[in-house]
Amino acid sequence: MKTEYIVLNTEAPDEEVIRRAGRIIREGGLVAFPTETVYGLGGDALNPESSRKIYAAKGRPSDNPLIVHVCRWKDVAPIVRSVPGEAEELARAFWPGPLTMILKKNDSVPPETTGGLDTVAIRFPDNRIAQALIDASGGYIAAPSANRSGRPSPTLARYCLEDLDGRVEMILDGGQVGIGIESTIVDLTEKRPVILRPGYITREMLEAVLGEVEVDSALIDPDSGVAPKAPGMKYRHYAPRGELVIFEGERDIVVEGINRAAASQMAAGKKTGVICTDETKLLYEADSVKSTGSRGDDESAARELFRILREFDDEGVERIYSESFDEGPLGQAIMNRLMKAAGHKVISPGN
Ligand code: TXA
Ligand code: MG
Repeated sequence: MKTEYIVLNTEAPDEEVIRRAGRIIREGGLVAFPTETVYGLGGDALNPESSRKIYAAKGRPSDNPLIVHVCRWKDVAPIVRSVPGEAEELARAFWPGPLTMILKKNDSVPPETTGGLDTVAIRFPDNRIAQALIDASGGYIAAPSANRSGRPSPTLARYCLEDLDGRVEMILDGGQVGIGIESTIVDLTEKRPVILRPGYITREMLEAVLGEVEVDSALIDPDSGVAPKAPGMKYRHYAPRGELVIFEGERDIVVEGINRAAASQMAAGKKTGVICTDETKLLYEADSVKSTGSRGDDESAARELFRILREFDDEGVERIYSESFDEGPLGQAIMNRLMKAAGHKVISPGN
């Protein structure tokens, strides 16, 4: 299949292109498109054949359910068994935006889209191209992140092309995404709301609306052996090709520890990379040193992380050392991705 690549203006997307892209999805094809979090790989959520194609294009296990994207609050009710008051409150506070809600689905959503579950994940993204495309496609787009399974989620359209060229009909380029990590997922099907994946909408923000919110215990202790409730969270994911190790602790000790590890790898002929911040960038000696922005700017760290991991792949970096990014409201969401990318390899050189 030939993949068409089209650059769009996010504020005023070309209507003719959106109409064509919408037709592709309505006819059962696939279109990659920008959202405010990461790029999505979209197909018709109500067409089982489209969901099968998404799994095939991504190389993703089909027991891992897809998120259904809508562009109007009123489009939620027709695909769920009932709309809990909590969903309405969250939608009022955070939609359109980086929050996905899990609700009980009805029969209009095929089991192929939800990986056989009787629940469905729904999100209303805050991006004009995404909204226009959803509308033109009939209102319901199933879209996982537009990466090949196991690779970092794409924050730029060219990474969709890298992963999906020849596997989708069209890629819509809307520039670099604003947030850079995937949406927060909250499950509203249990007695109490539970966060299944941390993201830009933090626990504190959800609690300000709903009162107490729990966090899936598999996220708190990944070694507990408890299976995460979001099936996708069990996969390693976000993995760069090089081996990644996270260093944590006091700044100078981390710098020294990373430099020592990098020096020994370089002596062994390995290409090394470091993920750090503006404050420490000049202190490292490695083949490639990349900053996420200033220390404490967690929004910048979220936006840059996946891009940096992909750049190291492009540069052929074999050993990557990263500072940790656990402070700030997005610390939990960033460390969740970084820890997965590292396969939970963490060193605390001070201890
Ligand atoms: O920001 C985002 O959410 C992006 C953009 C494209 O919207 N999408 C995204 O989709 O990250 P994906 O497929 O990469 O991740 C979806 C996650 C997976 O971990 C999946 O297991 C979980 O959502 N999920 C989907 N439906 C679910 C359900 N019914 N119950 C529990 N978890 C679900
Ligand atoms: Mg993904």
